[in-house]
Amino acid sequence: MKIYHFKKVTSTNDVAKKIVLLRNLQSKFLIFQEKCPAFFHEMKGEKNFAVVADEQTKGKGRMNRGWLSPFGGLYFSIATKKNPMLPLIAGVTVAVSLKNFGLFPVLKWPNDVMVGDKKISGILIECLDDFAVVGVGVNINKTPLETATSINDETGKNVSRDAVLNSILKNFEKFSKKNVLDEYKKLCSTIGRRVKIKATNKVIDGKAVDVDEHGRLVLESGEKIVSGDVIHLM
Ligand code: BTN
Repeated sequence: MKIYHFKKVTSTNDVAKKIVLLRNLQSKFLIFQEKCPAFFHEMKGEKNFAVVADEQTKGKGRMNRGWLSPFGGLYFSIATKKNPMLPLIAGVTVAVSLKNFGLFPVLKWPNDVMVGDKKISGILIECLDDFAVVGVGVNINKTPLETATSINDETGKNVSRDAVLNSILKNFEKFSKKNVLDEYKKLCSTIGRRVKIKATNKVIDGKAVDVDEHGRLVLESGEKIVSGDVIHLM
């Protein structure tokens, strides 16, 4: 996958979205497309690409939160074709990739990557036309945040940011082609828990019993949650 590398950006998600727009625009003006199909394919943006930055000045988190992005962490976004299973694919990809670095993460629905009850990686997916931008932040070095952890905090090792990035990109291509629902359910620590869910305009209490083929969290009451912030109770 092609990787665009930057030292400092506002948000890798925003840069990736701009590149998607630019590629879509360029493809409209390609008059020699039938003479150069490979180039046209690239310009139509049918290939995935990634944007990685050493630092972000306006890193974005889910539910309009920010994502602190000082030098030393891993911040990147993958632009890919829209797919309703992407939130699950992205979560499985990151959790499985971190196993290569001696960790055993689980997924808090939909895709907070957790070690115990601390977050090690967060994922923010934004859509644009036919595309989705999958933004991933991974804590590599020690973190001062009480609710977070990092690869260094967990293993005492200094791992290379690029090694983590390459492992995630490789696994992303692999899991994008698969049905990951079973794999996701095995990794999901929300299933079977009593939860409080902060959805856009309401708070729901219940017991999570399953995740369905659309990636929705299924509650014992039968309610299916499309998006929200989950707190595990007890
Ligand atoms: C979350 O709230 O858990 C999601 C955090 C996502 C952070 C990543 S860092 C790379 C990409 N660029 C952003 O601005 N956000 C995502």
